[in-house]
Amino acid sequence: MSLNPSASAPMIQEDFLPLNGTDHLEFYVGNAKQAAYFYKTAFGFQDYAYAGPETGVKEKSSYVIKQGKIILVLTTPLQPEHEINDHIRQHGDGVKVLALGVEDATRAYEETVKRGAKGYLSPQRMSDEHGEIVTSGIHTYGDTVHLFVERKNYRGPFMPGFQAYNSGYHPTQTGLLHVDHCVGNVDWGQMNIWCEFYKNVMGFKQIISFDDKDISTEYSALMSKVMSNGNGYVKFPINEPAEGKKKSQIEEYIQFYKGPGVQHIAVATGDIIHTVQELRSRGIDFLRVPDTYYETLLDRVGNIDEEVAILKDLGLLVDRDDEGYLLQIFTKPVEDRPTLFFEIIQRKGATSFGKGNFKALFESIELEQGRRGNL
Ligand code: FE2
Repeated sequence: MSLNPSASAPMIQEDFLPLNGTDHLEFYVGNAKQAAYFYKTAFGFQDYAYAGPETGVKEKSSYVIKQGKIILVLTTPLQPEHEINDHIRQHGDGVKVLALGVEDATRAYEETVKRGAKGYLSPQRMSDEHGEIVTSGIHTYGDTVHLFVERKNYRGPFMPGFQAYNSGYHPTQTGLLHVDHCVGNVDWGQMNIWCEFYKNVMGFKQIISFDDKDISTEYSALMSKVMSNGNGYVKFPINEPAEGKKKSQIEEYIQFYKGPGVQHIAVATGDIIHTVQELRSRGIDFLRVPDTYYETLLDRVGNIDEEVAILKDLGLLVDRDDEGYLLQIFTKPVEDRPTLFFEIIQRKGATSFGKGNFKALFESIELEQGRRGNL
């Protein structure tokens, strides 16, 4: 008989922060009405809910738009003294809240604060005729926060305080399904600190790391680690700049965002060819890799279902790992500051992040940086 109980009965580590995935992303923007129009028109998001003066909220307007499981909240303050203006003045339009779905927002707050998180919002109950929602929140990198949203007892549109919204303008959807991952850029030497935060405070695990040798080009360099929660529904890659001959793309972001923040949001589609055809026709600009990328594509990734000519025409990138392959493409920044952009991704088995595309992509990013005079 073993004297070591763990030898016969391995200890099952409980996930102290079980997550149901991304609940929503809230952007602080200069003009939420126009931002909502942009994301509806260009990306095919649909009206979902609204809060503002017409619903009794005096100090700000929030448009909630939805596609698949992706919910974006676009918020603008209505008076100059509102604190949200500080965020917009400092960062420009950007992501303030990465909200995560939980079964118990009170426990999520207690467990993370106990482990060192800085509280942003202590548990708060809100109710209306549709039921009750509990939210709580903690700070993460920069001015970004995580909100924990417990909505198991709520049946209404979005949250108490919001009303269902229908503007009468409904551009067709583009096939976006859910948030695949959200990437944070942090400053020199800060990547490991924030990875430790996700590990120790939120119980995440590191699933992948890239160092500057993997993903540096002649000029631009970065380091990255991918942190994932227990069930893999929530993945947060964290980037920091690395030394190169010229300025790292992460450094450019930090200089324009005025600190750490969300660099890109990757959204999944089941048909990337259709999605990107739609997005291109609606005016979304994508990074382009040189045509030579496609000459040797099949040598690198093996057999794929798609025709290379179509991939080349749309500028889609392909990468393969042990489990399958993925198709991806990156937009240019969606605001004038070279900060937030989107990734469109279709996974065909692959669970990785397109490491094989980094070199070609970074050369494309550097070309854009050079055009902005920031290289
Ligand atoms: Fe990504």
